[in-house]
Amino acid sequence: MSDVSLDVPAGGALRYKPLRMLMAVLVLLMNICKAEHDITVDPPRNIRIIDPGHLGQLHVSWTLPASLENRTDCAVRFQLRFFNTYEGEWTTIRTREMSYDAQFDLEKNVQVRIQTMLGGPCTSGSSEVQSPAADVLLKPPVIGLPGTKIKELSCIFYQREYMDCTWQKKQKTQANYQLYFWHRKMERAMECPEYLQSHGRRTGCRFPWHSLLEFTEFNVCVNGSSAGTLLRPAYFTMQLQNHMKPAVIDTLSLETLPDGDVCLEWAPPKGRILEDCLEFEVESRPEGTEGLMARNLTRAASFTVSPPDQCFCFRTLPIRKLLICLTLCFKKSLKTRVKGRHVDSSHKHL
Ligand SMILES: *[C@@H]1O[C@H](CO)[C@@H](O)[C@H](O)[C@H]1NC(C)=O
Ligand SMILES: *[C@@H]1O[C@H](CO)[C@@H](O)[C@H](O)[C@H]1NC(C)=O
Ligand SMILES: *[C@@H]1O[C@H](CO)[C@@H](O)[C@H](O)[C@H]1NC(C)=O
Repeated sequence: MSDVSLDVPAGGALRYKPLRMLMAVLVLLMNICKAEHDITVDPPRNIRIIDPGHLGQLHVSWTLPASLENRTDCAVRFQLRFFNTYEGEWTTIRTREMSYDAQFDLEKNVQVRIQTMLGGPCTSGSSEVQSPAADVLLKPPVIGLPGTKIKELSCIFYQREYMDCTWQKKQKTQANYQLYFWHRKMERAMECPEYLQSHGRRTGCRFPWHSLLEFTEFNVCVNGSSAGTLLRPAYFTMQLQNHMKPAVIDTLSLETLPDGDVCLEWAPPKGRILEDCLEFEVESRPEGTEGLMARNLTRAASFTVSPPDQCFCFRTLPIRKLLICLTLCFKKSLKTRVKGRHVDSSHKHL
């Protein structure tokens, strides 16, 4: 802060003491305001982005700006922004740490922007001061021949017991692909435990449930080589709880109630999906008509209907993403016909 000085003209232009004091206070205030606006802080230094081989999770680290190195009295935070290519927008994180692990699509640019934020005694207790941003842009390395990248990966976590991921190729190649995967409980990425094959070529991977982790990023890379050249790697990340598919209901009983209604009861499907996570959808319409299907959702494993001349479709919904349909028709005579049928709803992004 600069010193406060009052220039009093020699001719005594400031004749009245109260006025002079008022001027002094004004100048002092102006100086304080000016000084506050002049507080600047430097951006962090030594920004490093390290790929520990986790197929998309990168370790971002930085150090204090030199001007804050030996200060212990400042409240320093950092604002980290990174471009989230999955959402198509910037994600903002505020932290007192000097590192952060963030998820990136390694097929796309990695854009990171960090600012120092200074508060506390170093800014005279007023609002936080932000430094200009330090920007880092990393372009993905160009690996492998164009056109050799797999087209898409589709994963289904059956009954929460095992997951099958299958891929489509863009071109007919004789190449054999490899799949690697990683989640946060794994020290390093591992290769697929059991490849799915068709005509001697790998078409996918089967994961037993103990190799999987839900409610966190599950990262996958499909790469490989063919006749000495590398295939272009493809990267995916997903949350496995969104890929579950329950089994078909296979035990169903009917009971005619005294009032003529029919009560359907079924056993929850087999598998490791918790019963609390399941919901059932019953579709029904009078048999032999093209009338509208009535849809009823229920968390109970039973449903009462009347009149009984109806066709029913039972769907087991984990999180309303993947459906399995069981169609059941019966007449007043209560002859039943039960048939299981898979109805996959599309899952947009992995
Ligand atoms: C901080 O302190 C260290 C050790 O006393 C010194 O070497 C360094 O130059 C200081 N940095 C600044 C920016 O004053
Ligand atoms: C495929 O990716 C894995 C995991 O990053 C890596 O260890 C392996 O060397 C890669 N394979 C090829 C052929 O590039
Ligand atoms: C089933 O849904 C229909 C409308 O779709 C509704 O009229 C009917 O009452 C529901 N039945 C039960 C048992 O909830």
